Amino acid sequence: MKIKGVPYRTIWPTEDGKAIEVIDQTRLPHHFVTVRLSDAEEIADAIWRMIVRGAPLIGAAGAYGLALALREDASDEGLDAAYEMLAETRPTAINLRWALDRVSRVVRNKPRESRAQIAWEEAARICDEDVEVCRRIGQNGLKIFRDAYAKKQAAGKPGPLNVLTHCNAGWLACVDWGTALAPIYMAHDAGIPIHVWADETRPRNQGASLTAFELNSHGVSHAILADNAGGHMMQAGAVDLCIVGTDRVTANGDVANKIGTYLKALAARDNNIPFYVALPASTIDWTLDSGALIPIEERAMEEVTTMTGRLSDGHIATVHITPEGSPAANPGFDVTPARLVTAFITEAGVAPATEQGLRSLFPKS
Ligand code: MRU
Repeated sequence: MKIKGVPYRTIWPTEDGKAIEVIDQTRLPHHFVTVRLSDAEEIADAIWRMIVRGAPLIGAAGAYGLALALREDASDEGLDAAYEMLAETRPTAINLRWALDRVSRVVRNKPRESRAQIAWEEAARICDEDVEVCRRIGQNGLKIFRDAYAKKQAAGKPGPLNVLTHCNAGWLACVDWGTALAPIYMAHDAGIPIHVWADETRPRNQGASLTAFELNSHGVSHAILADNAGGHMMQAGAVDLCIVGTDRVTANGDVANKIGTYLKALAARDNNIPFYVALPASTIDWTLDSGALIPIEERAMEEVTTMTGRLSDGHIATVHITPEGSPAANPGFDVTPARLVTAFITEAGVAPATEQGLRSLFPKS
């Protein structure tokens, strides 16, 4: 995607090949800043602090982290220690472990002196593949958007296709394109009138800061919705379809995604509004057969008790919004049962949110 006319991915190797560079997502939407990450510890810290976030992107970053760790210690013990350090940064998104497993597998039986280079090349492949996979998700979702808009027109309803999304599942969450936002960009580029409701997504506001930043940069019509407004907007007929990304889908089709997704899926069902989940194969956890088994990340209470924003003088400040002494709970994700999902949109096509549906798309998995 382009920022002020310059094409960017969210992660890339530095020219000297000694590090990676990423967009610092904690500084958006107010400042567009990139940071250099030179070793596995820095990458683990960047994943934990959410300088990089979004399931596919933390997988890509983790893969580079393992490669950099192997430059310092290419032994089996070094590999295992780096794997554990990176894996425990974010427990819910399965893409992180998927990428770490993939890199570990390709280096495990290789001579030590070649391991770091093999891992580096595998990390680059993961990034390139992610771009292509997201492009295909976009194309498969575009057909659904096209049909939905045609149906709306045929029903004599005026206005654009109104799409509600939660959190950020755009190019910032991946290497490029995004999952849930890829069909939105493609529909916009294809001339389909589209308007996006971006849920603010408390506590970290990925919708209000990152999704809105993306849509704004690309010129897509959008407005930010307070998290609690979605149900009302659906009742009022202002939402034609919902689409979200996911951090882990279990074999039975249950969907873990940013906290608040479940409530939107419930409201969509109550209002007969289709609720789609866009995902790459790397987000499917075939080892779990129920969403109840997914570990849910619990984050610091300060994410709830404070808000960060830009002051009128341009400075960024964090302020307390709750009484001193009131604790907060901060589960990062929730699980939407498969029965509330209209369909999965993947790189391999579209299928019902069932084990059979997933297996029809990915028979070899
Ligand atoms: O905590 P985050 O910002 O990493 O959570 C991101 C999400 O929940 C996204 O919706 C999900 O990773 C899908 S990204 C393509």
